[in-house]
Amino acid sequence: MTLPELIFLVFVLLVALSIVWSTLQTGISPMMSSGKALQAMLASIDESDNRPENGHLIDLGSGWGTLVIAVARKHPHQQVIGYELSWFPWLVSMIRKYSLGLDNLTLYRKDFRNAELGDASILFCYLFPGGMHALHEKLKRELLNEIIIVSNAFALPSCEPTKVIQLNDIFQTPIYVYYWRPKC
Ligand SMILES: C[S@@+](CC[C@H](N)C(=O)[O-])C[C@H]1O[C@@H](n2cnc3c(N)ncnc32)[C@H](O)[C@@H]1O
Repeated sequence: MTLPELIFLVFVLLVALSIVWSTLQTGISPMMSSGKALQAMLASIDESDNRPENGHLIDLGSGWGTLVIAVARKHPHQQVIGYELSWFPWLVSMIRKYSLGLDNLTLYRKDFRNAELGDASILFCYLFPGGMHALHEKLKRELLNEIIIVSNAFALPSCEPTKVIQLNDIFQTPIYVYYWRPKC
């Protein structure tokens, strides 16, 4: 094996280990939303006519940037934010952001549980039951305004969704839409 090959192999191993580590840390891998989920979530964001025009659109766990980049391209005049803990997917999403020249997109390598969400008009996510529970607790504690939440596959505990879209895929994946109020 040549030295460049060895360096490449070590790099690939480090990336794989870091993804395994962050999956264990967060509870979910950086799996991308499917094409159908992406289209349904973009449509739900578009349909949310009564959101404040200057509110931020925030992806809680932006992974490789699949969803957050699609939102930023579709809404070039709104501030779009992504929070992601896993460094390699975050790095890839940063490269994609700069190569597409998306000035309205900010990507933080940060835990969304420690993020300020008060300026959000729409939150979107593809998490897991534990992540949805953590989000619900955070919203109840900190959020005083009404917002829209669009969640791929997982529901907010004890909140009635405004709409559930069932995707035409093998899992019949639900997309949950909430008009979240502080009392929920
Ligand atoms: C299933 S992926 C979804 C990626 C992207 N939103 C999409 O739909 O294509 C979930 C991502 O959330 C990230 N994540 C989970 N908990 C997080 C937290 N507390 N703070 C920031 N990112 C988190 C994971 O690292 C993972 O990349």
